[in-house]
Amino acid sequence: MTSQEIQNLKQEFTTELEAVTTADQLRDLEIAYLGRKQGKVTNLLRGLKDVSVEDRKTLGPLLQQLKSDIETAIRARQESLEPRTYNLEPRVDVTLPGKKFPMGHYSPLTTMRRSVEEVFRSMGFMVVDGPELESEYFNFDALNIPQWHPAREMWDTFYVSDSAHRIPNYKLPITNNRLLLRTHTSAMQVRIMRQFPLPLRAIVPGTVYRNEATDARHEKAFMNVEGLVVAEGISLQHLISVSRLFLKKVLAEDVEVRFRPGYFPFTEPSLELDISCLICKQKGCAVCKKTGWLEFMGAGMVHPNVLKAGGIDPKKYTGFAFGFGLDRLVMLKYGIDDVRLFRSQDLRFIEQF
Ligand code: FA5
Repeated sequence: MTSQEIQNLKQEFTTELEAVTTADQLRDLEIAYLGRKQGKVTNLLRGLKDVSVEDRKTLGPLLQQLKSDIETAIRARQESLEPRTYNLEPRVDVTLPGKKFPMGHYSPLTTMRRSVEEVFRSMGFMVVDGPELESEYFNFDALNIPQWHPAREMWDTFYVSDSAHRIPNYKLPITNNRLLLRTHTSAMQVRIMRQFPLPLRAIVPGTVYRNEATDARHEKAFMNVEGLVVAEGISLQHLISVSRLFLKKVLAEDVEVRFRPGYFPFTEPSLELDISCLICKQKGCAVCKKTGWLEFMGAGMVHPNVLKAGGIDPKKYTGFAFGFGLDRLVMLKYGIDDVRLFRSQDLRFIEQF
């Protein structure tokens, strides 16, 4: 054995190591050089005992050095061939199509409310919000419906009995300030008159409540949209044109409209607006009660007493107001034949929009 042989062996190992591409090949290479039985380096180490003491002194350390160099080189190579465990973690494949997250969407009532708001904004109306828990005063008394008035029967509702909820210190005399779930967004009329300067153009979309037996057209809670215009020289003609224009824009379809005389204590004269039933195309169905027409909106010229309650001089100013059911508008638009579906929490219904 010579130091040259050891040198050559190192060279040979280096060349063979370079050719290694798999973990298996590396394991074979390790066995070929360091294997206990027939490893090339092991054999040389074993042969040390046969060389002279003199040679052993120089060759021994050289062989030990070779052995440890080979071990180090094999470990280093192992690391590059067998990635560490953290490298084995699943990789992100950015080319895969993304996962779809389930997303909610607006209920058809909200979508309709937004498009109603958009149409009225385009006509210069402001959109106002109001409380669902309202005082008896704004819901009834201020609208020319005193406590003894039979019209209160038209809008039976739910009262909050806790006297702690009474509203203190109104500026105007209040016959009764019990709280109730508002029966119509008309409750906002006088609030708006008191809060905003003239001329006024406002709509109030919002939920209203009624204590009534439900059917295909009637719910206990539904969406109302109030409209109020007050200025000098406002007439019924303005009301009629605004209603027609609004319906044309929001339904994007030619509906037939008819006005009938109606009665509301807070408008004089009062009108009811019906629209042709788009569900059955006027053939007659449960929703239009086989009449071909659907009662859609109450309206009229604001009663002088209501203007007065709002602090407005009825001799100088006039106004019109209307209130319609948003639920019914959605029913017409999509051909829905039962108003109770909106609040049924039934996903099979709601997912269709
Ligand atoms: C009113 O609520 C008046 N405040 C409307 C008004 C405003 C008149 C301003 C004059 C001036 P009415 O009770 O008719 O009126 O209800 C208005 C509309 O709401 C109806 O035309 C109908 O479209 C809808 N509606 C009424 N009751 C229900 C109900 N139980 N479920 C669903 N929609 C209803």
